[in-house]
Amino acid sequence: MSAMLFFLCLMTAVGLGDAAALDHRQASSSSVPDYFQTTPEIYAGPTKTAEIAPFLAQTNSAPFGTASFAPNAPLETGYAIPGNTNNSNIFEMMGQLSSYFPNPVGFGVDEYHLPPNANITTANLLHRHGARYPTGDSSVSSFGSKVENITQNGTATWTGGLSFLNTWKYTLGAEILVARGRQELFDSGVLFYYNYGHLYNTSTKLISRTTTQDRMLKSAEYFMAGFFGLEWTQNATLETIIEQSGFNNSLAGYYQCNNSNNYRSTGGNNASVVWENIYLANATTRFRALSGDYNWTVADSYNAQTLCPYETVAYGYSNWCNLFTYEEWQGFEYSIDLQFQGNDGFLSPTGRGVGIGYVEELYARLQGHLYNLAPGATNVNRTLDTVETTFPLNQSLYMDFSHDTNIYSILTAFGMTQFSDQLANDTITPNRNVTVSHITPFGARVVWEQITTPQPLKAQRPTSTNATMSDFYDQGNTTHYIHMTIGQRTVPLGYSYPECAMRDDGWCEMSTYLNHLGGLLEQARYDYSCFGNYSTNGWLNVTDGVPATKRGLDLGLKPLGGGMGSGLEMKRSSDSGMYQI
Ligand SMILES: *[C@@H]1O[C@H](CO)[C@@H](O)[C@H](O)[C@H]1NC(C)=O
Ligand SMILES: *[C@@H]1O[C@H](CO)[C@@H](O)[C@H](O)[C@H]1NC(C)=O
Ligand SMILES: *[C@@H]1O[C@H](CO)[C@@H](O)[C@H](O)[C@H]1NC(C)=O
Ligand SMILES: *[C@@H]1O[C@H](CO)[C@@H](O)[C@H](O)[C@H]1NC(C)=O
Ligand SMILES: *[C@@H]1O[C@H](CO)[C@@H](O)[C@H](O)[C@H]1NC(C)=O
Ligand SMILES: *[C@@H]1O[C@H](CO)[C@@H](O)[C@H](O)[C@H]1NC(C)=O
Ligand SMILES: *[C@@H]1O[C@H](CO)[C@@H](O)[C@H](O)[C@H]1NC(C)=O
Ligand SMILES: *[C@@H]1O[C@H](CO)[C@@H](O)[C@H](O)[C@H]1NC(C)=O
Ligand SMILES: *[C@@H]1O[C@H](CO)[C@@H](O)[C@H](O)[C@H]1NC(C)=O
Ligand SMILES: *[C@@H]1O[C@H](CO)[C@@H](O)[C@H](O)[C@H]1NC(C)=O
Ligand SMILES: *[C@@H]1O[C@H](CO)[C@@H](O)[C@H](O)[C@H]1NC(C)=O
Ligand SMILES: *[C@@H]1O[C@H](CO)[C@@H](O)[C@H](O)[C@H]1NC(C)=O
Repeated sequence: MSAMLFFLCLMTAVGLGDAAALDHRQASSSSVPDYFQTTPEIYAGPTKTAEIAPFLAQTNSAPFGTASFAPNAPLETGYAIPGNTNNSNIFEMMGQLSSYFPNPVGFGVDEYHLPPNANITTANLLHRHGARYPTGDSSVSSFGSKVENITQNGTATWTGGLSFLNTWKYTLGAEILVARGRQELFDSGVLFYYNYGHLYNTSTKLISRTTTQDRMLKSAEYFMAGFFGLEWTQNATLETIIEQSGFNNSLAGYYQCNNSNNYRSTGGNNASVVWENIYLANATTRFRALSGDYNWTVADSYNAQTLCPYETVAYGYSNWCNLFTYEEWQGFEYSIDLQFQGNDGFLSPTGRGVGIGYVEELYARLQGHLYNLAPGATNVNRTLDTVETTFPLNQSLYMDFSHDTNIYSILTAFGMTQFSDQLANDTITPNRNVTVSHITPFGARVVWEQITTPQPLKAQRPTSTNATMSDFYDQGNTTHYIHMTIGQRTVPLGYSYPECAMRDDGWCEMSTYLNHLGGLLEQARYDYSCFGNYSTNGWLNVTDGVPATKRGLDLGLKPLGGGMGSGLEMKRSSDSGMYQI
């Protein structure tokens, strides 16, 4: 058989493989010689695995320590950034466009290992997809097209630091994961296996939820491959919830929240434009001097800066990165904080509305029952959530995959008021808690652990200085706790839910936590927030993730959209909204 014919036969045989996700594995068939067969394995050698699965989240008794700097290998991040006197990593200052890194500063409490005889009984994971290309019609792609045009038609001859533009082209793909994004999810699956592998019952198949969007589905698949290995389809079934306008989906909640896709939820963009005109004034002057007859704008500077993270994750290197000073990267991070906080968080009237569906799903799960709210109460798909086949209740591991802005809104709907900073639009608010790169970078992860202890746990936990003291109060019985982490650091629940009290470990007693969750649906005012006809009354009028106006007191529409003078589209920075670019 000729080489080409053999190749075609091989491809055909491979194409006929299992229709499961790993359908490109080279399955046995009469036309696949053994030296090209990879499944089933032949002469595989011994295949004994360990007798127990790891449970590092429970067994790790090492002190958490302080996070140390690790370079973002394989990406080139070793640039000399003007003004970067303390050698900080600008790639960890890029908001939702930062590659995953564990939160380096925490949320106000330390990490504690489990006390004796305490058990983690379930872990619930909410995961963002990995690094990706911009959306097809993004502002960075039209910027790219404009630069090419003005280079070609001779308007600009680029000089100095912009010389590379004389031959530069915008060449990025759109929407799908880049290689770095695949790595982030695979690595996260590996990490999650070390932490929680023990909670997986090897005789069952998990249901794990993602959306139909390509990068969402593939993120879930890479995660599963990391957690279980390439045969993960024996261990988990992916439930893909339709991500499309007109469909209910708590993992892409903006599709069932009209006001999150109109001017009512663009306060963050408007605020960001104000801030960009301030922090990018110097850069714009610098670049204008290198642009020949072209009048370089602030919006150009912002697009140029945004291209640094996108090109870096796509190609490993970008010429745009070291054109900006350290102070300008601090400004960039803050612009994204403004966008998320104002479009999707506590300063948005739809912050809670978009996220409340997932809150109610977790609330139902933690109580061990199906989602049972009336149609229209949230953006949850009730067809899926009211039967155990698609909303299982007996798992000890739940893994859900979602988008950056959606996760941000979910945290808002959870009432995590410690992220309710009222950010100023003209100066970086000092000591803010909202730093998007610490909350929803690419590959972001939020985990809720349920923990059972033999007795109530002291609010003041012993540390190395008093290690011989007991963790437990003398009195009391088995107690259940919830422990929440974002980016591998504990979120102190007591800061947002006073009933949980200020515990050293940030945990909250379970029934107290559930009581709090019980009040969140009403607070979110889903129907009014998402579909109501209200006015937003400018920056900082909304501070609790719901409209400031009450139904009946509505003062009429007064669009803020006119303020978006530099032609930036709505939701431009998010990776999910219908109007994003
Ligand atoms: C920021 O978080 C800290 C805990 O780390 C909390 O004490 C503070 O109140 C939070 N700030 C705001 C504005 O919520
Ligand atoms: C660039 O030129 C092409 C071809 O003339 C045009 O279609 C496109 O709209 C231009 N892009 C911008 C951003 O002006
Ligand atoms: C060059 O292209 C830009 C962007 O498309 C356009 O605005 C400008 O008018 C063009 N100039 C000339 C001389 O064609
Ligand atoms: C996945 O399922 C297979 C078949 O039940 C089992 O042999 C294997 O141990 C499971 N993998 C893990 C990582 O538990
Ligand atoms: C819920 O999901 C099912 C299954 O994908 C789909 O057929 C149905 O249209 C969805 N319902 C809504 C309201 O989105
Ligand atoms: C910027 O903030 C000031 C002070 O809060 C406010 O008056 C103004 O409307 C804001 N502008 C935008 C576009 O957010
Ligand atoms: C802009 O330049 C001025 C004068 O050199 C400097 O004080 C300021 O910090 C710069 N701002 C930014 C955001 O780089
Ligand atoms: C360049 O644009 C700025 C506003 O973005 C304007 O103030 C300035 O006059 C323009 N310069 C020229 C030479 O057109
Ligand atoms: C934790 O699990 C161990 C082993 O199954 C058990 O002996 C112990 O009682 C459990 N602790 C609690 C608080 O349930
Ligand atoms: C242990 O010591 C730390 C710091 O010295 C203190 O904050 C904590 O309250 C002590 N724990 C107990 C249980 O007393
Ligand atoms: C512990 O549980 C037992 C039996 O349920 C009950 O009688 C006792 O009062 C409980 N003790 C405390 C301190 O709650
Ligand atoms: C928000 O705007 C409404 C209508 O103008 C006003 O009644 C309310 O006091 C404002 N609230 C805040 C916190 O600014």
